[in-house]
Amino acid sequence: MCGIVGYLGERDSLPIILNGLKRLEYRGYDSSGVAVYNGSKIVSCKSKGKISKLEKQLQKRKNISGGIGIGHTRWATHGEPNDVNAHPQFSNSKKLCLVHNGIIENYSTIKQKLIKEGFSFDSETDTEVLVNLIEYVKHKKSVKLGEAVQIALNQVIGAYALAVIDNEKPDEIVVAKLGSPLCIGIGEDEHFIGSDVTPFIEYTKNVVYLEDGELAIIRNHKDTFFRKISDNSLISPTINKLELSLDKIEKQGFDHYMLKEIYEQPKAIKDTLRGRLNVSKGIIKMSGMDDYINKFLSAKKITIIACGTSWHSGLVAEYMFEKIARIPVEVEYASEFRYRDPVIESDDIVIAISQSGETADTLAAIKLAKSRGAFVYGICNVVGSSIARESDSGSYTHAGPEIGVASTKAFTTQMTILYMMAVKLSKSKGVISEKLYHKYILEISNIDKKVHTALSSNNVIKKIAKEFLKATNCLYLGRGYNFPIALEGALKLKEISYIHAEGYPAAEMKHGPIALIDENMPTIVIATNKINYDKIVSNIQEIKSRKGKIFAIVSKGDKEVKEVADHVIEVPHSIESITPFITVVPLQLLSYHIAVMLGKDVDQPRNLAKSVTVE
Ligand code: F6R
Repeated sequence: MCGIVGYLGERDSLPIILNGLKRLEYRGYDSSGVAVYNGSKIVSCKSKGKISKLEKQLQKRKNISGGIGIGHTRWATHGEPNDVNAHPQFSNSKKLCLVHNGIIENYSTIKQKLIKEGFSFDSETDTEVLVNLIEYVKHKKSVKLGEAVQIALNQVIGAYALAVIDNEKPDEIVVAKLGSPLCIGIGEDEHFIGSDVTPFIEYTKNVVYLEDGELAIIRNHKDTFFRKISDNSLISPTINKLELSLDKIEKQGFDHYMLKEIYEQPKAIKDTLRGRLNVSKGIIKMSGMDDYINKFLSAKKITIIACGTSWHSGLVAEYMFEKIARIPVEVEYASEFRYRDPVIESDDIVIAISQSGETADTLAAIKLAKSRGAFVYGICNVVGSSIARESDSGSYTHAGPEIGVASTKAFTTQMTILYMMAVKLSKSKGVISEKLYHKYILEISNIDKKVHTALSSNNVIKKIAKEFLKATNCLYLGRGYNFPIALEGALKLKEISYIHAEGYPAAEMKHGPIALIDENMPTIVIATNKINYDKIVSNIQEIKSRKGKIFAIVSKGDKEVKEVADHVIEVPHSIESITPFITVVPLQLLSYHIAVMLGKDVDQPRNLAKSVTVE
């Protein structure tokens, strides 16, 4: 939700900021803006719409260049997306200029107080309130910018990552964080700011991830001070070394990031298994788990918390943990869990799943679980993210940067980690035979190859996609391990093509959704199951007899479903518990091709953002 960039150094900040904003555009893209100190004052340019529109505006401007600047790409919370509400926001005196990611919950009270003090407001944003509060404090208390920010933030309730510059201190950027991500790239006599590290990976490998409740005063050719917002005490930051490289965040010849990321899945799965799965020795080594295996073994239940696609991988894990390791599992939306007063006991295990590692609801749910004494195991993709740091232990998915808003390779790599966890636990608990354990290990080692084969149905899927262009509603059906895949297929279609879709367990269809079936409503059925295969065939018959059109995902060589379905997509054979890895691939490709054919913005669908850092 919103991306922040900043630069302070000898180079012209504008191109660095613009480039950084393009990298962060996945975080929000309804408006954007930049502000640069040009030697005499801070000048800004803002525009509704994507960064490309801002770039066009900037081509008409001459006076925007200088060694200190900030930029923002917005996902609107307070106030509709327009030029006035876009960031950066100036204070009344036009001396302070601020970009902000998050929500100031008590902005209205502060605004009223400031109006009484003579302040006026042009925008509807909470950000304009914040920058004026800082200005008010600065003058009232006669303090420097850093201290003014610190005092103001102590009056604020909510979440923020912010960067602020001051006309009177044109060699300084003050940044602060609570609940929204912010990191500082440290170069030779230059500093970079980003909501993540992608804006500056080509300039420096040294990065400080600001922690919640921290503030930094960054100055050119001078020391940077890191302080606690609560009491202004000094802190010494940890400088981390980045391993990410530029080529990993480029499209590499694919039309869209989403397609690139779908195709990257075999490699992403292999990378996730690397160093963890040893087939010849029959070992699953997961250091984050090995150190705490007794905690896992004594847990009465496992609760999984996540949102969206990550929640779907949690649902698949419920089947894995219960069937393979015989451990009871509950899967909860993090947003519900955090407000539900859940029954969590001190020996409970909570697994938090998040691609970005920044999802506000998941982070808050983790904090709640920890406060009740639970042991939190985080499964994240983004290294050093807030959820990874907040968890007691965990595993990274090693999928590489996922930039398309629709999550794909994060999903299959999350399932890879969860599957290994389930098999590892089954062995440690002694609920599995040696033979079956080794069979599972072998199956895990072949997932990437099967996913690779599943990708080869791309051309068939492209043809099938044409059949969906007039549809306004679609139904996705699956059973057992593939029920969550039906949910995931429906979510993928909704979010990038804007076609309404619902996922259901196939047997639930007759309890309501069947009323929707007619010749205009396509149904996608995942029919690879060996268990309940006959029942799925019956469900298909029920739909056909109501003139519904059937698109079925079947195992290679299937005969029965082929006879009744209108179209089939074949995927390789596998044991039941591995099928979700394989059946999700055609569903990802199907939604991709439908969205492309409908002319939708696949990588940046409307109203969405990759990292949901607000409630
Ligand atoms: C869907 C999608 C979202 C995310 C959800 C959680 O394609 O990407 O539903 O899965 O916002 O995000 P993370 O996994 O970053 O916590």
